[in-house]
Amino acid sequence: MNKKIVAIMGSYRKGGITEQAVEAAVESARKLGAEVSVIKLLEKHIEFCTNCRACNQKSGEARGICPLKDDMNEILDEMDLADGFILAAPVNCFNITAITRRFFERLICYAYWPWGMKTPKMRLKTKNKKAVLITSTAMPAFFGRFLTGGMKALKVMADTLSAQVVGSLFIGLVSMEEKPKLTEKEKKKAEKLAGRLLK
Ligand SMILES: Cc1cc2nc3c(=O)[nH]c(=O)nc-3n(C[C@H](O)[C@H](O)[C@H](O)COP(=O)(O)O)c2cc1C
Repeated sequence: MNKKIVAIMGSYRKGGITEQAVEAAVESARKLGAEVSVIKLLEKHIEFCTNCRACNQKSGEARGICPLKDDMNEILDEMDLADGFILAAPVNCFNITAITRRFFERLICYAYWPWGMKTPKMRLKTKNKKAVLITSTAMPAFFGRFLTGGMKALKVMADTLSAQVVGSLFIGLVSMEEKPKLTEKEKKKAEKLAGRLLK
């Protein structure tokens, strides 16, 4: 059966560098036979987590149900059926974009954390999925990896989704041009990520 991949795109800019990198990885994954769906967070109705912890009260492996009425349930139904993820967000103010963080906070439903318990416990103990991470910064990638929390946040997001990180792409020096274009090298790297995801 074809592998199923879900890409989460957390950039605000249509056609920006993050989206271009996601598109390159997605196209390559499709060529390799995967069924891929792309979720652009900007186009979705996603509420803020209200910390009601309703989704955390019941034990078990299945994610808890969130009482908020928005697109999140549908998105997570699709992600639960996926074999792997492309998680992508540019760095704004030294970390992933606010819209990506808003999505990330809602993943708390993958934890068991009833009232009275100090810290959350992930429902699944094993990482049965794979993830590749894509981020971008104005500063050079070398510095961005150390000075910003973008990649770290995407890694924790992958952990929360029970996914093992099998590759990452950090695109630096993005903000020089109004319409930046992925270099051939970056495009190749993005395409390579798809191969790792489907191994
Ligand atoms: C509000 C805002 C905050 C930003 N903060 C940072 C930052 O802290 N560090 C950095 O290197 N680049 C920063 N940038 C530059 C973005 O990372 C860069 O424009 C982004 O990677 C472009 O991605 P996109 O083409 O997908 O929009 C910021 C950009 C904006 C608009």
